[in-house]
Amino acid sequence: MNTENKNSRRDFVKTSAVITGGMMATPLLSKANFFSGAEDTIKVALIGCGGRGTGAAMQACLTKQNVNLVAMADAFRDRIDNAYKELTADAKEGKTSIKNRIDVPEERKYVGFDGYKKAMAHADVVILTTPPGFRPIHFEEAVKQGKQIFMEKPVATDPAGIKRVLDAAEIAKQKKLNVVVGLQRHYQNSYRELYAKKDMIGDITSAQVWWNNDGVWVNPRKPGQTEMEYQMRNWYYFNWLCGDHIVEQHIHNIDVMNWFKGGYPVKAQGMGGRQVRKGKDHGEIFDHHYVEFQYADGSILNSQCRHIPGTMSKVDELLIGTKGKIFCGLAHIKDNTGKLLFQFDRKNENEPYQNEHNELFAAIAKGEYKFADAENGAKSTMTAIMGRMATYSGQVLNWDKLLNSGIDIMPKEFSWNAMPPVVPDADGYYPIAVPGKTKYI
Ligand SMILES: NC(=O)c1ccc[n+]([C@@H]2O[C@H](COP(=O)([O-])OP(=O)(O)OC[C@H]3O[C@@H](n4cnc5c(N)ncnc54)[C@H](O)[C@@H]3O)[C@@H](O)[C@H]2O)c1
Repeated sequence: MNTENKNSRRDFVKTSAVITGGMMATPLLSKANFFSGAEDTIKVALIGCGGRGTGAAMQACLTKQNVNLVAMADAFRDRIDNAYKELTADAKEGKTSIKNRIDVPEERKYVGFDGYKKAMAHADVVILTTPPGFRPIHFEEAVKQGKQIFMEKPVATDPAGIKRVLDAAEIAKQKKLNVVVGLQRHYQNSYRELYAKKDMIGDITSAQVWWNNDGVWVNPRKPGQTEMEYQMRNWYYFNWLCGDHIVEQHIHNIDVMNWFKGGYPVKAQGMGGRQVRKGKDHGEIFDHHYVEFQYADGSILNSQCRHIPGTMSKVDELLIGTKGKIFCGLAHIKDNTGKLLFQFDRKNENEPYQNEHNELFAAIAKGEYKFADAENGAKSTMTAIMGRMATYSGQVLNWDKLLNSGIDIMPKEFSWNAMPPVVPDADGYYPIAVPGKTKYI
């Protein structure tokens, strides 16, 4: 690699870092692939070292670029240790070792609520993979520090958080910071081809989307935990951290309709509850939701998600148009008579989690500004939040009013002894939303 090219990439990263919000970044140096040398690494910081964070760090290190993980931050020391162990493991059956890419000495492992700022400062690229409640805080800081960003979905758990992400997304655009959001269907070949061929079904008038399965892990309360530690360990069941499963998982399917439709719903109403998953360690979330979202042109998105063992499992999307249907799971398109118009060839399918990183790091290496996923990530998250609030309240909710409601469910203080915004009653149960009584706007 020649020096000019090497400096160019460094300048790109540095330029991005010094531009403050509201100003236009100097044009990026995007002519050539000027990053390729072993001596010039792309440095990554991992914020949130759990399952997805470990996977995403591996995927970053498995791209063609010269990527090193240089800093790790997590609320809990044991999560950093487990992730570090996995990332530095020797190659085993079917798994390449990336241990030569892991350069995280003890002094660059940050534990607690505040470590993220220091970890980010070491990096060119940050991976944000904590539970989604923290995403607005971490995304804002990453943008402030001028970092390139991969962040997982969802990107918030309440309307106030969505506003913060939308504002920071604007600044990220001005600074020309690449932002990839982990709505991986956008990086999956079959979905991309279906999207490219969507005109075959005419105008999309409705959709049905599903995330129905058995549910996820539970981390039961342990003796000696403060309420904050307990909720952080068992985060799936608390809305300020997770958003409920309609936000945390079903966003993927809801987002497909928004993407293909090219817009977001204007209102929603729905129903839901907790029928089976209602123990003390199940916090405050529902185990089923059914929501009818309506778009400005009157088209409808019927969304259902359920976490109940022993019921029908299905994770899929069906888009219905004036001339035909797109079956996402089957990766094909049929006309209204049932005639097959297009079948995606499975041989051409890719691994979308890996591809998110392949495309992001290739762009970064070339100094290109290619990805601005934060706005859609925020608006699809907002769609799912509106769905949750619709089922919790049983009211018809309006997008604009809800987005501008200022509803903020996050704690005011982050420390192990601080009280989270929801606490259990004397018997150990949390307050649960009651349709007809719970009200938002
Ligand atoms: N795109 C996908 O298909 C996909 C798949 C799995 C997870 N995810 C998303 O990834 C995110 C993480 O999920 P996961 O399954 O890895 O959960 P996880 O519990 O395994 O990991 C989350 C980690 O974040 C840490 N953390 C919590 N608060 C923190 C803070 N304030 N600062 C630093 N670290 C903090 C936790 O201690 C934990 O180690 C979620 O948003 C989830 O929706 C996406």
